[in-house]
Amino acid sequence: TRKANFVVVANRLPVDRVEHPDGTTTWRTSPGGLVTALEPVMHSHHGAWVGWHGAPDEVLDPFENDDLELVPVPLSEAEVADYYEGFSNATLWPLYHDVVAPPEFRREWWDAYVRVNQRFADRTAAVADQGAVVWVQDYQLQLVPQMLREQRPDLRIGFFLHIPFPPTELYIQLPWRDQILRGLLGADLVGFQLGGGAQNFLRLVRQRLHLDTRREFVHASDGRTVMARAYPISIAAQSMHDLASSEATAHRAAEIRDDLGNPKTLFLGVDRLDYTKGLPERIQAFGELIAEGKIDPDEAALVQVATPSRERVEQYRHLRDDIDRQVGRINSEVGRIGRPPITYLHASYPREEMAALYRAADVMIVTPLRDGMNLVAKEYVACRQADDGALVLSEFAGAARELRQAYLINPHDIDGLKETMVEAMNAPARVKARRMRLLRRQVFEHDIDHWARDFLDDLDRVTADQMDWP
Ligand code: G6P
Repeated sequence: TRKANFVVVANRLPVDRVEHPDGTTTWRTSPGGLVTALEPVMHSHHGAWVGWHGAPDEVLDPFENDDLELVPVPLSEAEVADYYEGFSNATLWPLYHDVVAPPEFRREWWDAYVRVNQRFADRTAAVADQGAVVWVQDYQLQLVPQMLREQRPDLRIGFFLHIPFPPTELYIQLPWRDQILRGLLGADLVGFQLGGGAQNFLRLVRQRLHLDTRREFVHASDGRTVMARAYPISIAAQSMHDLASSEATAHRAAEIRDDLGNPKTLFLGVDRLDYTKGLPERIQAFGELIAEGKIDPDEAALVQVATPSRERVEQYRHLRDDIDRQVGRINSEVGRIGRPPITYLHASYPREEMAALYRAADVMIVTPLRDGMNLVAKEYVACRQADDGALVLSEFAGAARELRQAYLINPHDIDGLKETMVEAMNAPARVKARRMRLLRRQVFEHDIDHWARDFLDDLDRVTADQMDWP
């Protein structure tokens, strides 16, 4: 295969397998924002994407899809359990999300994480051309920058963490805390969602590794200058908006409202089924508002889409059972024949259906206990056709830093959440319009292209002539 001079490395490849009736399989580019944003760079440079293809115990050769060079990294069944479900999603995920669930520290999970990160680094080293830009994504691959640099000091390496980087007192619980810091410092640029994450990282490299830092720069032990900064991620706002504006979406949105009995207020929640998302809090708040008569079930409905996720991890299984029970109880207590107040959908839908739901919703409720960014909040705003609708947003989502005109709430404060849901529902049109106009401007001005350009420009700058210590 041809060598690439722009390489993205992520746990997953940006494609889904499509099985045809005749038994053949093809691949379809998945609609993620990241792949959309990077497509122009991928095509203008010769780009490659290194990632897992999603099937355990299957070894695939590199292949091309939609002009993208895809480099599959195989994982055995045991590695899926230990590296992906274990260390990535039962150790790092809860630890980095403020320990909202207790992280488990298991040495065999760590061993698998090291082994799999090494494999990602080896594959990347093999496809990257001399001097290529390599952009490593997210918490599953924090050791890759250093492992890559050891083999390929010629590469320009960026790393972006999509989830929160935790407060130092939580981070230091990790038995392998120093190894991970060193892993990240293999990059020339380490990007975070928020300034606070970059600050936490800089403090840790001073405290734990005794390195010198100045403003957002680290003086690494091999003499390089590493930069750590915030790059709040976003969505392909215009293409999301265009999708929502289509005739077909308008039709589907009306149909959805019809099927729900044309409620005056349609509340909507859209999340991966994850314990960080504050689903029980949101459902509780809605149930109480109905039970107390503050929301009339003849006039309002809640649609909650929960996309299946990490279903073999114990805490996700428990969460699913809890929510099934909670929704069942509320619907059985306050529902009437043909009109359950909560429509709960444990499923994933194509973008078209999501756009119709966003378009149909009067009040979007986003209540994570902790979230790196939360792109659902931005998608809802991008799908507005006019300055209407309202966004209720947790102050613990990264998006709350930019979306200041949302109705901000503390999801642990159920009474406050209830009050704000009612306020958003009843707000006069001109109040909603003023807020939504500012939200829309923010989302359209800071879209995913803007994010990718900011990051890659900074990476260029830090690596220009390996920048002098500032
Ligand atoms: C979060 C993570 C991503 C991850 C996604 C879906 O957004 O930051 O790295 O890909 O969740 O989770 P999954 O485990 O299915 O890849």
